[in-house]
Amino acid sequence: MLAEAAFKPGLEGVVAAETRLSSVDGQAGELVIAGFLLEELAGNATFEEMVYLLWHDRLPAAGELADFRVRLAAEHHLPPATLALLDAAARDKAAAMDALRMAASTLSLGREGDNAERDALKLVACFPTIVAAYWRRLNGQMPIEPRADLGHAANYLYMLTGSVPDAAHVRGLETYLNTVVDHGLNASTFTARVIISTGSDMISAVVGALGALKGPLHGGAPGPALDMVFEIGDPANAEAVLRRKLEAGERLMGFGHRVYKVRDPRADVLAAAAERMFHDSGDTALYDLSRQVEQVALRLLEAYKPGRNLQTNVEFYTALVLHGLGLPVELFTPTFAISRVGGWTAHCFEQISVGRIIRPQSAYTGSKTRRWLPVESR
Ligand code: COA
Repeated sequence: MLAEAAFKPGLEGVVAAETRLSSVDGQAGELVIAGFLLEELAGNATFEEMVYLLWHDRLPAAGELADFRVRLAAEHHLPPATLALLDAAARDKAAAMDALRMAASTLSLGREGDNAERDALKLVACFPTIVAAYWRRLNGQMPIEPRADLGHAANYLYMLTGSVPDAAHVRGLETYLNTVVDHGLNASTFTARVIISTGSDMISAVVGALGALKGPLHGGAPGPALDMVFEIGDPANAEAVLRRKLEAGERLMGFGHRVYKVRDPRADVLAAAAERMFHDSGDTALYDLSRQVEQVALRLLEAYKPGRNLQTNVEFYTALVLHGLGLPVELFTPTFAISRVGGWTAHCFEQISVGRIIRPQSAYTGSKTRRWLPVESR
């Protein structure tokens, strides 16, 4: 009886882990990452510093950071089996998230024994290489080898395009990667913790997390959020298009959040990054359109769904930042994964130190009085 009384659909409000990695205050609209307010970290840290902070609970000193960058760069290259898998996936025209999930699994090849630190480094280092190599193969181009002299974010853009990105683009991407690296016990992080809690390995945990991230209710929304802005095209159309969607019972992508009932602080950090990038590029038309669409969407959501507190979420401005960086929509969710793998691996380290399997209960709702009938009598 106790289990049934305690059942919470979607596990809403259930506390299933303790963590020092991030704190999400949905009422105050506050995100703290390893002790820092997001606004303090996102625009300052390199992604390498962010991952080091999550793994070690402190920012690296200069020598430690240099050493960490060298160790990551040494793991950037893909094993031949991974490249062969990406070729096969490209022939099949697999979605980029599926290619990333399959390729991540191949990182198990050739390693001896379980070593969570080694596997975490390999996963974080290889994600940008996998996504860039896959995108190029899918488009009939040869993959570009990573460069040891470029940072993690710069390398990703370089491997996609073949050009070394300028500082503004690198800063824009790092701000994005830092903003979405960790976010409490979201669905993919929970998945990773459940898997690692069974005594399974880091690569299995991250492959499971990738599967959870792919869904449109989690990491799959930024593409559709941008589609919606493009479909509207002109601020004058916003009201009619959004009303039609809401009247058809559709959800507006980029709005609403399980935890944030005020504005998602990540949306503000990314809105500012988008504004800087579009301003620097000299063309703010898409940025201006997005802000207008956002205002109309918020007004209509309050009218159609009063009291639900549906606010702009991180995906809305993610779409704008990633588009401004020149990334195709198909790579939005894989780019989210390039960041979030830092959080997943950090959570796995935490869960390993807890050393207890995650095994909740279910509330049985079926009958208990059925009687067996031989097959000929059914
Ligand atoms: N557009 C329109 N209505 C929405 C909505 C949206 N984006 N998000 C939630 N709602 C409505 C629901 O239809 C529901 O209405 P009802 O009470 O009349 O049934 C109500 O608000 C509560 O929704 P619910 O699904 O219970 O909220 P949740 O906490 O489970 O869902 C999301 C959170 C993120 C899954 C949900 O807001 C959503 O689907 N948003 C769009 C997808 C998206 O942007 N995802 C990225 C998340 S970072």
